[in-house]
Amino acid sequence: MKVVHTIKEVREIVKAWRKEGLSVGFVPTMGYLHEGHKSLITKSVSENDRTVVSVFVNPIQFGVNEDLAKYPRDLKRDTLLVTSAGADLIFNPEPSEMYPAHFTTSVNTTEVTEHLCGARRPVHFGGVCTVLTKLFNIVMPDRAYFGQKDAQQLAVVKRFVRDLNFDIEIIGCPIVREDDGLAKSSRNTYLSPEERKAAVILSKALKEGKELILNGERNARKVIDAITKVLYTEPLAKVDYVSIVDNTNIQPVDVIKGEVLVAIAVYIGTTREIDNFIIEVND
Ligand code: PAJ
Repeated sequence: MKVVHTIKEVREIVKAWRKEGLSVGFVPTMGYLHEGHKSLITKSVSENDRTVVSVFVNPIQFGVNEDLAKYPRDLKRDTLLVTSAGADLIFNPEPSEMYPAHFTTSVNTTEVTEHLCGARRPVHFGGVCTVLTKLFNIVMPDRAYFGQKDAQQLAVVKRFVRDLNFDIEIIGCPIVREDDGLAKSSRNTYLSPEERKAAVILSKALKEGKELILNGERNARKVIDAITKVLYTEPLAKVDYVSIVDNTNIQPVDVIKGEVLVAIAVYIGTTREIDNFIIEVND
């Protein structure tokens, strides 16, 4: 396992693999890796001859009042996790390597970014699509792995890869959770012990929503209201959004039908947590 910091080094290493006819999997991350990231890396290792993991806290996907400065970083720990998962290369560039002076190009999507986090974090997905365009052009993988944890991001990536003809297979992977149900996240480290306990309300509320749908409820409003009600039983929780959207277009639905994404964003104290489930209804 090698750690490199420049675009040139990644290109040289991947080129040599390509010469040998090896397939390449890619797992883009912002580091401070946990079991959720590890599940993506393990899947890539099992499906490709070589796996590249990028560790880069991408400044352009953070809004001005967001947590860029305090986002947790620990490359040593990340290196151990990536090594134990069996990947071959970490790409850990400096911001100046990715964004030299006079960087003026960006990639944006419409429709899929209109609602949910796209509505709440206006610069976020433009920053994600732009950095992924660069990373895809640098690594040129056969497959790239993304978590369902960031369900809208996965839909956005599938869309822009299709729209811009990247010859990369995008693979979604299930959400990895803590024992009490909280979705694993690098941002969970921000939570105080009291907030950490409170954060379990996200998965609890979603469970209630899922049960309602499984029991036949098809009115999206009613499911949203039920989830919101559960969330507000927790005094430390402040709801950012509770939405039910079509999982392909990420547009709100009134009636639950086909493959829908039930997604929530909730502040626990000052930490913004997201969670979701996908359900297919064919009746
Ligand atoms: P980051 O938040 O580090 O997440 C990297 C990948 O790990 C994403 O695809 C995310 O969905 C996945 N992931 C995170 N927590 C997970 C969990 N509990 N279970 C399963 N997968 C999980 O997402 C980003 O970084 C950035 O936006 C990035 C794509 C790297 C672009 O900068």
